[in-house]
Amino acid sequence: MKYWSFTEGFGLENLALKTGARPRPGPRDVLLEMHAASLNYRDLVVLRGQHGRMVQPPLIPLSDGAGVIVDKGSDVHDFKIGDRVSPAFYQHWQGGPPPADLEVGRLGGPLDGVLATYCVFPASSLVSIPSHLTYEEAATLPCAGVTAWSALSEPSPLRPGETVLILGTGGVALLAIALAKACGARTIVTTSSAQRAEKIRDFGADIVIDRSQEENWAQRVRAETGGLGCDRVLELGGAATLGQSIKAVRTGGTIILIGNVTGNNAELFLPLVLTRRLTLHSVSCGSRSAFEAMNRALALHEIRPAIAKTIPFDRAPEAFQALEHNDGVGNICVGSYQEGSG
Ligand SMILES: NC(=O)c1ccc[n+]([C@@H]2O[C@H](COP(=O)([O-])OP(=O)(O)OC[C@H]3O[C@@H](n4cnc5c(N)ncnc54)[C@H](OP(=O)(O)O)[C@@H]3O)[C@@H](O)[C@H]2O)c1
Repeated sequence: MKYWSFTEGFGLENLALKTGARPRPGPRDVLLEMHAASLNYRDLVVLRGQHGRMVQPPLIPLSDGAGVIVDKGSDVHDFKIGDRVSPAFYQHWQGGPPPADLEVGRLGGPLDGVLATYCVFPASSLVSIPSHLTYEEAATLPCAGVTAWSALSEPSPLRPGETVLILGTGGVALLAIALAKACGARTIVTTSSAQRAEKIRDFGADIVIDRSQEENWAQRVRAETGGLGCDRVLELGGAATLGQSIKAVRTGGTIILIGNVTGNNAELFLPLVLTRRLTLHSVSCGSRSAFEAMNRALALHEIRPAIAKTIPFDRAPEAFQALEHNDGVGNICVGSYQEGSG
């Protein structure tokens, strides 16, 4: 089989295409022939060697993938050969509250990820792919999709008629727009350019704010909500956006802390947090049962994740570059895994 691995260190210069023996499933495992992967912002953090001491080379990158079962252990009864499945981002979080050692079970660091033509996973970590989705579309779901789902379900579910503010237009944000629409909520989305704003309108966002033209986007959010503020913010920006998110949300509203693309250390104006009686709730992707619940909703509403670009497996490093350059609107995928591979 073929696989990409960070060998001596991180960075694209250390990402090498290797060949090796196909892994064999244990009694409770399955062997997947992989067909697609999708990149997340987190994969760039891993690429830059900034994911902390727990994530070290040698490492097969990428957490989000999709494939078909080609072999299974004798104790696997929930799946059969030929089933299309995806492995969960957290391999050992089945449902309920997260386990205390949550971070040790992440694919794509510290555990080897899905940038390999064959992978073995415990059957207990798999979910079936909804039949309306391609492998590429399904590959976008384990981290980005489940995070969007958790952000709209926790600590209490988004309700029809509510207004949700979504920051940026990456993988998490795009699926959140689709799920929020399906729930009957109104979406306000910020983005970085007029060109991206135009595309996001096509994805069904109700109001799109071009941050390059409206630096004080919190004011606009309040204006668009009759001065009240939005019900929920999906806070993907981090240090540079949290202050405005607090201004944009209504009294008693909820800020879901998800990402930190603008930095790690935020300064908060606490009087506003206190007087607004805000809930700050953070999410870390979600459990396998959350993944299954999301898939039921995607199937019911025939929601398809957006793909900006699919790069062939043999040219996978280009996928990291495309994500870094914020190319196109939609997920950056890796496909054509099995062409000419062993
Ligand atoms: N907590 C979790 O479980 C979890 C799970 C997944 C991701 N995350 C985090 O969520 C964030 C987004 O992840 P992703 O994979 O969706 O990212 P992505 O696909 O790489 O997209 C990143 C997006 O960030 C947006 N952005 C850049 N600067 C921004 C700013 N100043 N304000 C608002 N948005 C800005 C850009 O959209 P525009 O150009 O349109 O603004 C860009 O498309 C990352 O920090 C990631 O680590 C957390």
